[in-house]
Amino acid sequence: MKLRLPLAAGPGKLATGQPATGQPAQDRLFGTVEAWQGDRPWGHLLDAGTGSHSLRWVLGLSTERWTAVTGADWMERTVRQELGHRMRPVDRVVTGNWSDPGFLAGQVFDTVLADYLLGAIDGFAPYFQGRLFARLRPHVGGRLYAIGLEPYPDQAADEATAVILDIARLRDACILLAGHRCYREYPRAWVEQSLRDAGFVVEQAVSVPIVYGRRFVDGQLDVCLQKLPLFADPRLAQATRDRVEALRAQAHAVHDRLGGLRVGSDWVVAARPG
Ligand SMILES: C[S@@+](CC[C@H](N)C(=O)[O-])C[C@H]1O[C@@H](n2cnc3c(N)ncnc32)[C@H](O)[C@@H]1O
Repeated sequence: MKLRLPLAAGPGKLATGQPATGQPAQDRLFGTVEAWQGDRPWGHLLDAGTGSHSLRWVLGLSTERWTAVTGADWMERTVRQELGHRMRPVDRVVTGNWSDPGFLAGQVFDTVLADYLLGAIDGFAPYFQGRLFARLRPHVGGRLYAIGLEPYPDQAADEATAVILDIARLRDACILLAGHRCYREYPRAWVEQSLRDAGFVVEQAVSVPIVYGRRFVDGQLDVCLQKLPLFADPRLAQATRDRVEALRAQAHAVHDRLGGLRVGSDWVVAARPG
């Protein structure tokens, strides 16, 4: 399973952890990108919102070179520690912010990956989401691949969705009570429109159903535990801890009975400059 670590959370702030998908689904997301890319060369690839998961995938591709961007110093340190030994002299990990107009100015990449970047933007550049693809547009020489999570529904129509919604709400409540910012996810239709508005031609798009596993459940609920010391009210923190463990037991039971938690989907969109 992929645990997306949010921005608002460096080691100094306690990692938040955010919507994550099951490992098989993740493999399907990058597998989809590879299938769409076909035998086109990857060239110089930009991982526009990097992390260990996407960079590990990038390292397996036949790129000429790659540049990986993060908004967080701690993320740069993490990927360097984990994967630095696999970097070539031409590869780069860079900390910067897409809201800075001068960041990577004039640099064009053959392939740009925006993997779980859109949802994480709120932690680094609040309200910038609507401008993200226009900001990336001059950097895309060939193709842009965007990957993200379809927002959860407000109401649950089945037991699996109910338990995932309970987890997501508790996680976000803990993040807010710790004084941090939550991720904000966007629907595939919004992404496609935003790409067109930014001057891209959307070439392919697909929704990939998610099956959450126990690791997802534990990862998200552990985010809650990490936030508790930052609560202003220790009694609320203790009550929340009790709720976290009750929800963990309930979610494990539902997961085991149903053989996984089939809830929602990720989207993958391929676009080229128009
Ligand atoms: C969910 S995390 C990591 C996703 C990553 N693809 C992975 O392997 O899981 C999102 C990444 O986007 C970066 N990011 C978010 N907003 C950003 C911004 N405004 N400028 C630059 N990087 C940003 C974060 O710092 C982080 O590296």
